[in-house]
Amino acid sequence: MNSTFHLLLLVTLIHFIIGAKILGIFHGYSSSHQQLGNKILCELAKRGHEVTAIVQGKFAPKNAVTNFKPIVIEYGAFLRDQSSTLYKTPERGPIDQIRDLHAGGVFLTELFFNQTSVQNLLKSNQEFDMVILEQFVNEAFKGFCYYYKAHCVVVYTVGSSRSTNLQMGNPLNPSYMPDVLLNYSSKMNFVQRLFNSFAVFFATLSFYWTVLPKHNEILQKNFPGAPYITELYYETSLILLNSHVGTSSPVPLLPNMIEIGGFHLNSPKRLPKDLQTYLDEGKDGVIYFSMGSNLKGKDMEEGKRNAILKVFSKLKQRVLWKWENETVPDQPNNVKLGKWMPQQDILAHPNIKLFVTHGGLLSIIEAVYHGIPIVGIPIFGDQGMNVAIAKADGYGKVVEFSTLTEENFGNAVTEVLNNPK
Ligand SMILES: *[C@@H]1O[C@H](CO)[C@@H](O)[C@H](O)[C@H]1NC(C)=O
Ligand SMILES: *[C@@H]1O[C@H](CO)[C@@H](O)[C@H](O)[C@H]1NC(C)=O
Ligand SMILES: *[C@@H]1O[C@H](CO)[C@@H](O)[C@H](O)[C@H]1NC(C)=O
Repeated sequence: MNSTFHLLLLVTLIHFIIGAKILGIFHGYSSSHQQLGNKILCELAKRGHEVTAIVQGKFAPKNAVTNFKPIVIEYGAFLRDQSSTLYKTPERGPIDQIRDLHAGGVFLTELFFNQTSVQNLLKSNQEFDMVILEQFVNEAFKGFCYYYKAHCVVVYTVGSSRSTNLQMGNPLNPSYMPDVLLNYSSKMNFVQRLFNSFAVFFATLSFYWTVLPKHNEILQKNFPGAPYITELYYETSLILLNSHVGTSSPVPLLPNMIEIGGFHLNSPKRLPKDLQTYLDEGKDGVIYFSMGSNLKGKDMEEGKRNAILKVFSKLKQRVLWKWENETVPDQPNNVKLGKWMPQQDILAHPNIKLFVTHGGLLSIIEAVYHGIPIVGIPIFGDQGMNVAIAKADGYGKVVEFSTLTEENFGNAVTEVLNNPK
């Protein structure tokens, strides 16, 4: 009786499992972008959808996932180690950074379509019901939605911004929505609002006049017969934003723009033995310091590095520093280095009192989730904006890298450690 019932139940269930064929494309050459893509696409595969995912080889999921077929692209050989140039980003003004982003986007989009694996996919006559695209100055990718006559879902690794709002027809009001490349929160003074308006205006103009036409060339070359790009640009069914009201400014959103920030968080796991012991024994508290995955310690200017180490050496707290080399010159006794850090599990440890971070959005979300205050040293991309929000919302201090000294960095660290708020 029982087994008949189970069989019956199983048959009824099978009837209701309808898996979609999904093409996921996450091309951003950065561990954080790939982490987000893998999380969404593996989760869809686990729920029974048939997922084909174009991912960077270096970051493809290590273990096979059922229903998940990776198509690997390799940018590694084409891209120099960007770390040393990235440290110089703050020296370029915001307008140049917008130009760099636009030009870089066209380059990466070409590089993407030059990949043999991508061309093979296009020749293979497969069909998809839905295309999930990462949005990262890659407008020509909209051709995939057209080519497969599929629903177009866009994932943006930051919150609502110029990149998402123009294609959706969502308001983009520069008086309280800072451009992601500026280091403003939504609480801007008059001069900041003026400059923000100028930057948004400049970026939008440059986007329509120079960027979209270039993406149209790439589109026409790879999807012959496609309409002009603006016809596809606005055909987005849904945008998933990596923002959350806890870490980004409140903004109006159309019903098909959905905030999913925090979805990458995992429940804390036990740490490797040496880290667990180090953190357990840090009774006076431990500071965790990481500049993320793109910025390498070796490229940090020696003067700044020494200033940071001097500050750490005077503290009673222990410091855990994500740093690629085995040792660092003049390493203080209370500083432990590690090439790889399970960041989420570290931030979950009760002895962590402060997170010194470059202000990458995932780091910020993880800090807020675990209730750890930050000292932000923003370098590029949205980091300036993220730490400006942390400062405005009262859970962080900001130290500009270009003017970082033992004194101002020390003051920020001491204040965050000692301020009970
Ligand atoms: C892509 O391939 C074309 C043709 O081979 C070449 O001219 C172009 O430089 C390549 N672009 C990139 C970014 O590799
Ligand atoms: C933004 O960056 C500039 C230049 O680095 C700096 O002078 C300014 O204080 C920063 N503003 C905020 C709000 O962090
Ligand atoms: C890091 O290690 C490399 C190779 O061992 C060495 O050339 C470099 O000088 C080291 N850098 C620092 C800042 O310790």
